[in-house]
Amino acid sequence: MLTKLYIDGKWTEAVDGRTFEVLDPSTEEVLADVADAGPQDGLHALDAACAAQAAWGRTAPRERSEILRRAFELVISRTEHFATLITAEMGKPLAESRAEVAYGAEFLRWFAEEAPRISGRFTTAPDGRNRLMTVKRPVGPCLFVTPWNFPLAMATRKIAPAIAAGCTMVLKPAELTPLTALLFAEVLTEAGLPDGVLNVITTADPGAVTGPLLADPRLRKLSFTGSTAVGKKLIAAAADQVLRVSMELGGNAPFLVFEDADIDAAADGAVLAKLRNGGEACVAANRFLVHADVAEEFTAKLAARMQTYPLGPLIDGRTRAKVSALVDDAVDAGAQVVIGGKAPEGKGFFYDATVLVDVPLTAKLLSEEIFGPVAPIITFTDEQEAVWLANATEYGLVCFAYTRDLNRGLRLAESLETGMLGLNTGIVSNPAAPFGGVKHSGIGREGGAEGIEEYLETTYVAVSDPFGGM
Ligand code: SIN
Repeated sequence: MLTKLYIDGKWTEAVDGRTFEVLDPSTEEVLADVADAGPQDGLHALDAACAAQAAWGRTAPRERSEILRRAFELVISRTEHFATLITAEMGKPLAESRAEVAYGAEFLRWFAEEAPRISGRFTTAPDGRNRLMTVKRPVGPCLFVTPWNFPLAMATRKIAPAIAAGCTMVLKPAELTPLTALLFAEVLTEAGLPDGVLNVITTADPGAVTGPLLADPRLRKLSFTGSTAVGKKLIAAAADQVLRVSMELGGNAPFLVFEDADIDAAADGAVLAKLRNGGEACVAANRFLVHADVAEEFTAKLAARMQTYPLGPLIDGRTRAKVSALVDDAVDAGAQVVIGGKAPEGKGFFYDATVLVDVPLTAKLLSEEIFGPVAPIITFTDEQEAVWLANATEYGLVCFAYTRDLNRGLRLAESLETGMLGLNTGIVSNPAAPFGGVKHSGIGREGGAEGIEEYLETTYVAVSDPFGGM
């Protein structure tokens, strides 16, 4: 299988004819050869996005909405095709890939419904004279850099609001999982998206391709999902052209279990918060903070559930080596292994579901994003300590908390330094909700009513007093 770049509605080879390989992480075998774009290809893609911008930005919101709605129907009708491809290139079990297809498609439906609701304001100035009007217009050509962990959903979460707002775009999917994005480009063409609105460039050298795009004054926005380290570099690169940026970066989610929690419900939620996507999610619970009175019961229930949860491989050997090194570091520092703690023999980048207790606060996996199926448990004795531990990180994407005390839940919502809080639930992700973080976890929100604003500029029009005042 050989795939090409998608530029201006045409499938084209890279200018210098180069390709790179995409592997199946379950077998380590080659799945496809993919066109390897260089800087010139990237600029061609931006040329196409810029040429399409003016006409696309003037289309009727209903027209954009209907393209998105058709794309939603097409993705749902091709669930098996998408799910099989996601599993092949990313490795998650088929059931999880189907869930990603449903999740990813939902962004298309949500933003199909948001497109006709873009609105400005018209008010009277406080002194009663001028009228104050705001007009919304598309930001302009965007660059999207998406990760490998949700190859469809992380693309639709950016593409759908951009289409709804009337922006054109260049998408650079992760080099480990580019195939799903290419299939999605086919779907959008079939749904009626005009040529040049979406351009997809695959490359094994992302920096060489995105660098010239970020330096180009025609680009107006960058949206990135990925690690904080790369996000910081992209923010710096985006500064030169003062680009609008949306950054969905790393996390270090605490999962708090209070002494009054329903422990079965907490263990059920914990398994989802930890093992959804094999732990390869920025919202994955990274640290389990459990009240000392219920720690033993919670640990036993979590370990039992994690042992039977179906896991795929990790994405590659580097990721598995990192997970393994983090576990070894914790164990060397005194942590006890309850289950797992090793990689199984054989092909594929698998790592066993792992629960660790007695983890010292100095262990690296409490401050670094694990991105694997490892649950370190530490204990606390009161709410103040729990909040202090939860906030003791540079990240602030999501927290989870289990408690039956409503007032405590509300106190946590106001005292945890986080963009999102899962209260008695292990999953927060929802296309109708504003997804995003604070501190080093990012800038901006994706999804919800907030999501489309990331793709809109506001022009303020001062209108003179219609009654002739000054
Ligand atoms: C991510 O891992 O970046 C996103 C996960 C999600 O949307 O749930």
